[in-house]
Amino acid sequence: MTRYAHITGWGMSVPERVLTNDEIAQFVDTNDAWIRERTGIRERHIANPEETTGLLATQAALKAMEVANVRPTDVDMIIVATSSPEHLFPSTACLVQDRIGATDCGAFDILAACSGFIYAVDIAAQAIKSGSIQTALVIGSETLSRLVNWRDRTTCILFGDGAGAFVLQASDEPGGVLSSMLRSDGSGGDLLTIPAGGSSIPASPHSVGNDLHFIQMNGREVYRFATRVMAKATEQVVEAAGLKMEDIHLIVPHQANYRIIEAAARGLKLPLERFVINVERYGNTSTASIPIALCEAIESGRLQREQNIVIVGFGAGLTWGAAAIHWTGPFPSEKKVYQQRYQLLARARSIARRTLRRVEGWIYGRK
Ligand code: COA
Repeated sequence: MTRYAHITGWGMSVPERVLTNDEIAQFVDTNDAWIRERTGIRERHIANPEETTGLLATQAALKAMEVANVRPTDVDMIIVATSSPEHLFPSTACLVQDRIGATDCGAFDILAACSGFIYAVDIAAQAIKSGSIQTALVIGSETLSRLVNWRDRTTCILFGDGAGAFVLQASDEPGGVLSSMLRSDGSGGDLLTIPAGGSSIPASPHSVGNDLHFIQMNGREVYRFATRVMAKATEQVVEAAGLKMEDIHLIVPHQANYRIIEAAARGLKLPLERFVINVERYGNTSTASIPIALCEAIESGRLQREQNIVIVGFGAGLTWGAAAIHWTGPFPSEKKVYQQRYQLLARARSIARRTLRRVEGWIYGRK
């Protein structure tokens, strides 16, 4: 029997603090008019020190699970796509797993920069379609404000913080993720990079003194690359899904720059109204931008059941990708799942496990 991977839950979380272009203009040489004209961005949300990538991811995930009405114990796989993980390891996905109390599940991060969410959706959908899992939680979460050089006006105006999450579930009913494509071109790796902090350039006084732990970008080249790949990737997944462009109700592109989305619309000969655009309020939230845009489209009623959409993105690597999705919404379920009860249980379980590990360590240490 053919299995399908439907998107049955969605949720987003953004920090409360909003940083406007005018505020940025107070500490670097820029201005609101320049930023708006070149990028379409008006403001972005910035995390406070307590709001970590894992916390935003957990908040978005809980909302998505609430919509899908699934228990944390139903989740078989958690994928966090992020360019700003809490640590190199453990993965941010494992932090989410512990916080939500998903006791029977694999958890890992994906590093494909801003294309990461599409990569994660593809992997989760393939795992569901193959029959190896039933339910996946796919999250894009970022606190890029911590990796931005706030003295560099060419990059600090672009990025923002936030998270978005999907629940994907198996079904015999046709629909869900119909087709997807993932691509990469490592020859452009130096165009958008955080040079230090990995094994190539470990942290040192030199790396810190030379700002090598911050985002560095060749904006013009990234712009050219993005406008080249968006339309083609969209066309490829629409064709692979057996659809025509007129069957696509909405395109949800990565929100990096208004002009890049305009160029994609021109390339596809589609009106801009067919695109979901919210970059003006969030800036580029990397892996979180597509799920946040999609959440807003659903909440505002722009997306209805039985409509087809395309998600399409690009990012450092270089990477790009797209997926065509038949939108079906949550599965009907009889019994409401009370997420808060599971939350309390998850916290208690986590504390108990840590305590037990400490006690065991103490006992074996004495021996
Ligand atoms: N405020 C004012 N002036 C700025 C500025 C800012 N924030 N940033 C750059 N400038 C200046 C430059 O110094 C340059 O001045 P010069 O001509 O005197 O040298 C001038 O503006 C033009 O710079 P340029 O880099 O050519 O601008 P641009 O039109 O390419 O716009 C970006 C810059 C970053 C907005 C644009 O290249 C872009 O959006 N690229 C894609 C980035 C992206 O999406 N990255 C994420 C991928 S996931």
